[in-house]
Amino acid sequence: MKALILSGGMGTRLRPLTYTTAKQLVPVANKPILGYVIDHIKDAGIKDVGVIISPETGEEVKKYIDNGRSWGIKVTFILQSAPLGLAHAVTTARDFLKDDDFIMYLGDNLLSHGVKDAIKKFKNESPAALIFLKEVNNPKQFGVAKLDSKGNILKLIEKPKRPPSNLALVGVYLFSKEIHKAIARIKPSFRNELEITDAIQELINMGSAVMSEILDGWWLDTGKKDDLLQANDVVLDEYVKRQIDGDVDSQSQITGRVTIGSGAIIKESIIRGPVIIGRDTEVINSFIGPFTSIGNNVKISDSVLEHSVILNNSTLCGIDRLEDSLIGKGTKVVKRNTHHKALRLMVGDDSSIEV
Ligand code: DAU
Repeated sequence: MKALILSGGMGTRLRPLTYTTAKQLVPVANKPILGYVIDHIKDAGIKDVGVIISPETGEEVKKYIDNGRSWGIKVTFILQSAPLGLAHAVTTARDFLKDDDFIMYLGDNLLSHGVKDAIKKFKNESPAALIFLKEVNNPKQFGVAKLDSKGNILKLIEKPKRPPSNLALVGVYLFSKEIHKAIARIKPSFRNELEITDAIQELINMGSAVMSEILDGWWLDTGKKDDLLQANDVVLDEYVKRQIDGDVDSQSQITGRVTIGSGAIIKESIIRGPVIIGRDTEVINSFIGPFTSIGNNVKISDSVLEHSVILNNSTLCGIDRLEDSLIGKGTKVVKRNTHHKALRLMVGDDSSIEV
């Protein structure tokens, strides 16, 4: 069994963050989403991993994965010249996949449980495809399944205008070599992509066995700001441990599950977990409330923030209250003059600011 991770694409929905970072490398609880994906693949015992990359962000993805060294896996990078769809990515990876069974894992999906059980089920039952479904509130944004009363799949539709159910396709799929035949028979969709959803529907049309299972545990597609904040909440809630490596002065109070990286300095501040603070970050005379992730080398002073994600190398100074926010790398949010009511902004393209 091989693994194929999809880490190409454009990431338009997470702009402006994804102007400078591949969307799979956007951190959740200070770790890139792709890192969780590779952890799951490694934990399932798969050692031969193909990674689809794009011309725009491929180098950055390669640098992060570093040939799989820290995971002990063998990685083959596969360049997809344009984001022409998930099924197109599979075709691009044909030489790597050969006729082997494989798990395809979308590099921007986060799952609570990993994929060990999924692989066990696939090996036991040997279908042409095994897919996972989960109830969502916004099925129009996903591939959607219509099932009969026994749970057999009747139909799969990508981004339906009128969804037949609220069961979305999760971004983890197990395939046998049959999928290549199905992909060869489909045409590009309305968004001009070769859709894996259409290819799986084609497998059903061909009479091949397609199994589905309702996913246990949480699943997050980290496509937009609120999804990312939610992913951050869930991961902080489940994984953050109390571990304080940085320096905390005697006037600071650290409550609950808080991780503070080495070289960080906390002075005259209150931090209430779950919170993660990266390496070499300074927090001075500030309050950091629950469900906040602060990256490396960030400077926060005289500010109050909670339920937010602050990426590396940013500065926040004199901010009375910041919540539900996502601040990109190297950003400065500074209050200059408390008597002056006008805002002074230098904001990148496609940013979103609520005042
Ligand atoms: O997240 C689950 C959903 O993922 C499914 O419910 C949908 O059926 C499926 O089509 C897919 O929908 P998205 O529109 O969310 O896919 P997106 O374009 O965001 O791409 C998913 C990942 O695959 C992302 O990490 C980028 C990568 N990708 C995407 C395309 C189109 C590639 O590597 N190559 C591509 O050509």
